[in-house]
Amino acid sequence: MKVAVFSSKPYEEASLAAANGGRHELTFLEAHLNARTAPLAAGHDAVCAFVNDNLSAPVLEGLVPGVKLLALRSAGFNHVDLAAAERLGLAVVRVPAYSPYAVAEHAVALVLALNRNIHRAHNRIREGNFALEGLMGFDLHGRTVGVIGTGKIGAVFAGIMRGFGCKVLAHDLAVNPECEAAGVQYVKLAQLFAESDIVSLHCPLTPMTRHLIDDAALSRMKTGVMLINTSRGALIDTRAVIAGLKSGRVGYLGLDVYEEEAELFFEDLSGQVLQDDIFARLTTFPNVLITGHQAFFTHEAVKNIAETTIGNITEFEATGQCANVVKLPR
Ligand code: NAI
Repeated sequence: MKVAVFSSKPYEEASLAAANGGRHELTFLEAHLNARTAPLAAGHDAVCAFVNDNLSAPVLEGLVPGVKLLALRSAGFNHVDLAAAERLGLAVVRVPAYSPYAVAEHAVALVLALNRNIHRAHNRIREGNFALEGLMGFDLHGRTVGVIGTGKIGAVFAGIMRGFGCKVLAHDLAVNPECEAAGVQYVKLAQLFAESDIVSLHCPLTPMTRHLIDDAALSRMKTGVMLINTSRGALIDTRAVIAGLKSGRVGYLGLDVYEEEAELFFEDLSGQVLQDDIFARLTTFPNVLITGHQAFFTHEAVKNIAETTIGNITEFEATGQCANVVKLPR
């Protein structure tokens, strides 16, 4: 198949080319997919897209009739207008799992760095400041961690935190028996909020989970709670969290995702003036640690994403179907 690979970066191109082995004709495009760049897909049978590509109805309309397949290089598909894709006869496939360890371990890295102020200590040492004031952390052992969403990633995160000696509470639409067997206790959201010292989000972004963490949710949490989000930015109402940071209700915030990240993440904007005042405010807090959607970014995950993506395209070309198809919820 002729595949237009949007938002492509050199590190992905190498993995995709290796996984492809010359089977498909891949056109690597640095541009994000949007209404303006959609014509670049002309003459291709498939579009390969990433998390911050615009896959709304008007953009998808610009891809047909030529393009038949939309191959996502991600697990999340909240950015795709699935109803429009179905109407236009565009099959959507994704990479359902590539390394839950990559994301879960990154969430743990945020917990550890925030707790022990590693980001601040690093800066101090480089400036010859060896004072310890303001760097005191807490033992994770014996603390209560709340995990929202115990699918592939949440289950790995819960297991690691159990290994630290934490009590793990979880909330999900369905109980994961492996988590239960590992000593994770399923509770209602209200109890998880009330009892957790650390709350980590591992559920998808859906209409039900959008702004799951808002003023009301924060008001039910412990004062000084640590909040970690490696899932999707819009799970958190950023304005509410900023208010929570200012009041002290939120004691630590670790983010790998941000509501308006499409305008920022994955690009070097260091020579430009930051236009997003809300994001700019977040970066001023000493107890906020942000990474730019890099939780997935391990050798293993990038290789798996490339192999599954090429496998999806090959399967679709051969059979017109794919095991990793994303269906419109009925
Ligand atoms: P998964 O599908 O295995 O697990 C998601 C879990 O969330 C399921 O158990 C589901 O029942 C639960 N859930 C759904 N709605 C819920 C609700 N309203 N309340 C509580 N739980 C709910 O997904 P996986 O692979 O564990 O990924 C989780 C999320 O991580 C993805 O949706 C994606 O947004 C994010 N992600 C982030 C990456 C990054 O680089 N930062 C990379 C990969 C995924």
